[in-house]
Amino acid sequence: MNTSTQRYISDSAGIAQAAEILRAGGLLSFPTETVYGLGADARNDMAVAGIFAAKGRPQFNPLIVHVADLNAVKDIAELSDIARNIAATFWPGPLTLVLPRKHNCGLSKLVTAGLDTVAVRIPAHPVARQLLRAFDGPIAAPSANPSGKISPTRADHVMEGLGGRIAGVLDGGACDVGVESTIIGFSAGIPMLLRSGGIPVEILQKAIGMSLKTPEISTITAPGQLKSHYAPTVDLRINADAPHEKEVWLGFGPGTFDTPGLNLSETGDLHEAAAHLFAYLHQLDHMAIARGISTIAVAPIPGHGLGLAINDRLKRAAAPRER
Ligand code: TXA
Ligand code: MG
Repeated sequence: MNTSTQRYISDSAGIAQAAEILRAGGLLSFPTETVYGLGADARNDMAVAGIFAAKGRPQFNPLIVHVADLNAVKDIAELSDIARNIAATFWPGPLTLVLPRKHNCGLSKLVTAGLDTVAVRIPAHPVARQLLRAFDGPIAAPSANPSGKISPTRADHVMEGLGGRIAGVLDGGACDVGVESTIIGFSAGIPMLLRSGGIPVEILQKAIGMSLKTPEISTITAPGQLKSHYAPTVDLRINADAPHEKEVWLGFGPGTFDTPGLNLSETGDLHEAAAHLFAYLHQLDHMAIARGISTIAVAPIPGHGLGLAINDRLKRAAAPRER
């Protein structure tokens, strides 16, 4: 699995070469508005198996299938009326729907981990959309980070985590949402929030006209739902009022400390904070290691809007890890 990873700029020639990698069964990282995905042809068993190998991801976790438009969704999944309404409002965008899989969908069984549902998303990022059109097929893609590590929001992050293990990275600059898609599933036809993410739950609830429940017991063990996930190398201390002496600081809102660190948003803007979250965790991880510091302390983040997804990721990044 030692290949040299090629970086492609996202002009039409770069996108055409990237689509060619996918067609040949190779692994390609590409930008979406949430985070960079690690893509493979969702119909190709060997290619999809390569995703799990490159990430070091447990085999039982199903992957999100990215498609260009609603017609492509209909080829692989059943859309109920309510699913269709949610899709019409939020696609393309940072939303994933878990839908009943069509039997003749042609997807690799590895993508759905043997489940009779499939997670589907139409991304909004212009480069992702052009890639999907150029490839003209479904792309299976988890976030392009080694399993359990911080998600990538820049091509450099992908190179750092997976360079040498994948064929290429399509560079589309920094992702503007910065946290993964919100995932909605359906239980007896009723929408359920499976993962908080790039679309604030309040906005979804308003559009659907009902409150979204979270399933009590997750029916699958998915990486974003594992306790320790999105983790930097050093430890994380969340909801900290102030940094201790031997910590680096991840702030939110006005106010500074005499400690090395970064601020997710000086003005307390949750969209800005989400967009910076993973990049700043990457940066502070490097800063801490360089200074021989073992902990990143993080200021409290409000729990509304994108704060729900930010706090979810921080809680998992701070969870005790298997080392
Ligand atoms: O923003 C995103 O969603 C990014 C970009 C690349 O699209 N992708 C992403 O993928 O975050 P990943 O693999 O890191 O997370 C996929 C999640 C799993 O954690 C799981 O919760 C859910 O998708 N999932 C996939 N298939 C499912 C299924 N059939 N039933 C329930 N959940 C499913
Ligand atoms: Mg992930």
